[in-house]
Amino acid sequence: MLAVQFAEYGGPDVLALREIDVAQPTPHEVLIDVHAASLNPIDWKIRAGLLRAVIPLTLPATVGRDGAGIVSAIGSGVDPALLNTRICFFAPRGVGTWAQQIVLPSSCVAPLPDTVSMQDGAALPLAGLSAWIALVETAHITPGMRVLIHAGAGGVGSFAIQIARARGAHVITTCSARNRDFVTGLGANEVIAYDQAPFESQLRDIDVVFDLLGGDVHKRSYAVLKRGGTMVCLVAAPFEDRSAEFGVKVMVAQIVPKKESLVALVELAASGALRVPVEEQLPLADFKTAHEQSQTGHMRGKLIMLMPDRTAP
Ligand SMILES: NC(=O)c1ccc[n+]([C@@H]2O[C@H](COP(=O)([O-])OP(=O)(O)OC[C@H]3O[C@@H](n4cnc5c(N)ncnc54)[C@H](OP(=O)(O)O)[C@@H]3O)[C@@H](O)[C@H]2O)c1
Repeated sequence: MLAVQFAEYGGPDVLALREIDVAQPTPHEVLIDVHAASLNPIDWKIRAGLLRAVIPLTLPATVGRDGAGIVSAIGSGVDPALLNTRICFFAPRGVGTWAQQIVLPSSCVAPLPDTVSMQDGAALPLAGLSAWIALVETAHITPGMRVLIHAGAGGVGSFAIQIARARGAHVITTCSARNRDFVTGLGANEVIAYDQAPFESQLRDIDVVFDLLGGDVHKRSYAVLKRGGTMVCLVAAPFEDRSAEFGVKVMVAQIVPKKESLVALVELAASGALRVPVEEQLPLADFKTAHEQSQTGHMRGKLIMLMPDRTAP
C-alpha cells in the first residue's frame, strides 16, 4: 500500500510516495482503510526536524496525525461492532496517517455518523480537539466570557470560534483582512484584521486569550487580559511567562488523542452545531504542494488529502 514518507529531515523535497507493508492489528488495535487525512502544521514541522527532540522518530516515517476511514480488521480484544464502521481517528505521536491503511489503538478512533462525510471526519480530530481541549477542558470558558482567539481563520481557530460561541462566549478574533468574512461566517462577534490595526490598541478586559501564534503576539496579549484572566497557549516554542506581573494565568494546553472528547466533537458536527471548515481537497499525490501551502502560515480552514482508489461511502 502507498504512504507519504520521509527518510531524512528537510524541505518538502524529502517527501516521497512509497510502497510499504501493511501491519496487522494486535489485540487492542484496529486496521483502518483510510479514505481521507488532514493537513496540520505539525506535519511539516516534524518533517523539517523542528520537533525531533520532543517527537523522536524512526526514519523513514509516515506523515500525518489524523483522518477518517473504515475499520477493515480488528484485534481479538476489540468490540466486534467496530468492524466495517466509518470512523475518524487521531493517531498517537509517531504514527503517520497519510497512508492507504494504518493500524491504531481502538482508543484513538470515534464512530462517524452517516451525516458526517469522510472529508469532514478527517478534518476534525487534531484541529478540533486542539480547540476543544484548550477552550473547554483547559481554560474552562463559560457563557458571557470575552474570549480573544488569535489566528481565527486557520484550522484550529475556525473550530475555536464556533466552540466558544456554542459555549455562550463573546468571541473576538484576529486574522488578515482577506479572511474577515470567513471568520464572521463562523460566528465571530468582532474581527480585528492584524494587517490593518494592532489588536492591543482596541481591546481591554478579555477573560481568555487563545494564543495560537506565540512570539510577539504572545507578548502583546498580556496587556488585553483583565486581572484574573487566562492565556491558553498551543505553541511549543518557549515564551516569557509574565503572568505574575499582569495578575493572569498562563496555561499550555496538552493536545493528546482523547476518545470521549473526540466523540463529543463528532456529535457536535453531526448535530449541525459545528461546521467543519474544509476549504480545500487534494489527491494524496499532491503531498508536496500541501506541505508548501501549510508552511506559508496562511491556511484558511482545513485542507484534506484524499486517498487513491477510495469511493466515499
Ligand atoms: N501544541 C499542539 O499540540 C498544537 C496543536 C494544534 C496546533 N498547534 C499550532 O497552532 C498553530 C495554529 O495551527 P492551525 O492548524 O490553526 O494552523 P493553520 O491552519 O496553518 O492556520 C494558520 C493561521 O494563522 C493565521 N495568522 C498568521 N499570522 C497571524 C497573525 N499575526 N495574527 C492572526 N492570525 C495570523 C493565518 O491567517 P491569515 O491567512 O489571515 O494570516 C492562518 O489562518 C500552529 O503553529 C500549530 O503548529 C499546536
